[in-house]
Amino acid sequence: MRSFVTLSLSLLALTCLMAASPSPVAAQAPQAVAQTPPMGWNSWNFFFGKVTDKDIRDSADQIVATGMKGAGYVYVNIDDTWEGERDANGVLHTNAKFPDMKALADYVHSKGLKIGIYSGPGPKTCAGYAASLGHEDQDAQLYASWGIDYLKYDLCSYGKNMQDEAPGDKAAQMRLMIAAYDKMAKALKATGRPIVFSLCQYGWDAVWEWAPALGGNLWRTTGDVQPNWGSIYNIVSQQEGLEKYSGPGHWNDPDMLEVGNGKLSPAENRTHFSMWAMLAAPLLAGNDLPNMKPEIKAILTNRDVIAIDQDKLGAQGSRIYSDGEVDVWSRHLAGGAMALAVLDAGSDRYSSHPFHLDLGKLGLHGAQTGKDLWTGKTVELTDNMAIELGSHDVLLIRLDTPK
Ligand code: GAL
Repeated sequence: MRSFVTLSLSLLALTCLMAASPSPVAAQAPQAVAQTPPMGWNSWNFFFGKVTDKDIRDSADQIVATGMKGAGYVYVNIDDTWEGERDANGVLHTNAKFPDMKALADYVHSKGLKIGIYSGPGPKTCAGYAASLGHEDQDAQLYASWGIDYLKYDLCSYGKNMQDEAPGDKAAQMRLMIAAYDKMAKALKATGRPIVFSLCQYGWDAVWEWAPALGGNLWRTTGDVQPNWGSIYNIVSQQEGLEKYSGPGHWNDPDMLEVGNGKLSPAENRTHFSMWAMLAAPLLAGNDLPNMKPEIKAILTNRDVIAIDQDKLGAQGSRIYSDGEVDVWSRHLAGGAMALAVLDAGSDRYSSHPFHLDLGKLGLHGAQTGKDLWTGKTVELTDNMAIELGSHDVLLIRLDTPK
């Protein structure tokens, strides 16, 4: 009885408090975003500085039409070159390529998708357009008023500000950088809108150590990805040791996908996508969606591979061992499951000879039954079995009940 009275009084007090507060909505903590690595598409890797409002609409249409939306792709992200000039009040306007950002955001939302935008802490973006220095709160409010769901914040010209303000003092420069990212994180939070915050400063100053604390949902771990094998493999190799920094709400970002771009071979596209899944990386496609070839669509919409990437445990995979030019990676998945990737980084079909899979090194005991996620077939793995892979190809296996 006593506890009932206490509870009733507490509820009454709470109700009075709520009635007295002006707007409970603005005060609410934004809902948690990026609980699994963000999935979507970004304009930069195909359109670069030429992207227009129409390209974004067409891409949103294609995400729905190709089944990518059904497979989990949600964010449609406008990268650099949408920005115009600031007016007398400091309000940033779009340039002629993007006549009405609010209307564009409404269009993307009408497809059941979310929209992302790009800026940076310096005076200018990498492509030389207006960035957010001195206008962080104003810009965050503007994005929220448009209905923006994701911000990629790119260091670019702020590097010069850091040098000018603290010449020769690397530690002070780093503190300035952290403060600049923190400023925008707070500005985004103050909007009350859930907005994914993506840090882009190329993996400098061990960003993985400080980005989660200021609310970063993902942070680039390397320089820009390029659509060639050397770049993809180099980036994969650079992710070793970063596993412990990644998890639900805060992810290492080895950069956006190049699947379907440049001269990547079918094997290289498969391996690129497989390894991003093993790394719990954000899956932001960057290809020409209206002209996507069926084999590229098949890679980007492989739901078994996407399920590895989006696994709820959020544990990034690790390279367990290498033998010659073959690397063996594993990833722990929810429910005790496991993903294995065997990658042939060599330049011809025979570079994997004589590769034999060592199950013991993977913590496995004896024969295992799994699924090959590229053929869809059930496979038996035995200790010391010979595996022959084509150049730059991958064997990606899911073991639901590893022993
Ligand atoms: C780079 C960034 C790229 C792209 C480009 C736009 O700094 O790493 O992903 O955003 O700027 O200018």
